[in-house]
Amino acid sequence: MDTKRLTGKNILITGAGRGMGATNAQHFAAMGANVCLGDLDLDAAQSMADEINAEGNGRAIAVQMDVTSRADNARAVAATVDAFGMINVGLFNAGLNKPRFFMDIDEDNWDLIMNVNTKAMWLGMQETARQMIAQGRQEYPYKLINVGSIASRKPLVDVTVYCTSKYGCLALTHCGAVALAEHGITVNGYAPGVVVTPLWEQLDKDLVDIGFKKREGQAYEDIVRDALQIKRVSYPDDVKGTAAFLASADSDYMTGQMIHIDGGWCIQ
Ligand SMILES: NC(=O)c1ccc[n+]([C@@H]2O[C@H](COP(=O)([O-])OP(=O)(O)OC[C@H]3O[C@@H](n4cnc5c(N)ncnc54)[C@H](O)[C@@H]3O)[C@@H](O)[C@H]2O)c1
Repeated sequence: MDTKRLTGKNILITGAGRGMGATNAQHFAAMGANVCLGDLDLDAAQSMADEINAEGNGRAIAVQMDVTSRADNARAVAATVDAFGMINVGLFNAGLNKPRFFMDIDEDNWDLIMNVNTKAMWLGMQETARQMIAQGRQEYPYKLINVGSIASRKPLVDVTVYCTSKYGCLALTHCGAVALAEHGITVNGYAPGVVVTPLWEQLDKDLVDIGFKKREGQAYEDIVRDALQIKRVSYPDDVKGTAAFLASADSDYMTGQMIHIDGGWCIQ
């Protein structure tokens, strides 16, 4: 892909303070995009934005936001428009996991995961689309990009609520694609498998705590051996090319798709 393929795109990324969101922000800006990094953790988002600005490609700003708040989503969209003139792409990446076996799920576990992973995606999509519709149709489509997971298509017994939330992200991708096409907005997503980030490092510990694995690191080994065709875990750099493709004109004729970047897990 042309290394400056995202020049002229203004992109809001939620959960961009670390992990895959941060890597995508950096990569998008290196390809010419202006990026707004939204995160609960403003210090993390701001230091990533400072790094991006020091690199001298696309510009970056940081916004503190809780993605579960409609007002914060609206504020992040407004900050993007204030800084860069308009918004072209929204990447709804913020998410978390807290494993529980089915019979151990309680309301707190359910609400936490469903609110951050699914309700917040709906809010982000709606507030971003509201601004895109107000901007009017462009020659090229606006793009909403949803982060799903292998858990968008596989029933994993240790993370039922996470699966429910991520199946929800797939449904939002399909429904959003149908609902927003008339406004010149496409909706696609990507679905990672095991990506080494702070989220997975915490999950690895939590899986030992709930008794699903005997020791830290075992989950990675079991998944690589039993589930993956490509025999290694992945890193944010494995995901950034697909995210950039979905943000770029190369995906203009796609909508309603969730691309798996999971080492072949989903086909087994
Ligand atoms: N790591 C994996 O193996 C993996 C696999 C499949 C899908 N995913 C999905 O990818 C996305 C990114 O995951 P990651 O592994 O980079 O996670 P991460 O924990 O490394 O980063 C997530 C970021 O989201 C932010 N965040 C969390 N709750 C928030 C809230 N309420 N408001 C605003 N920001 C909030 C955090 O502060 C953090 O900066 C998530 O949606 C996750 O479910 C991850």
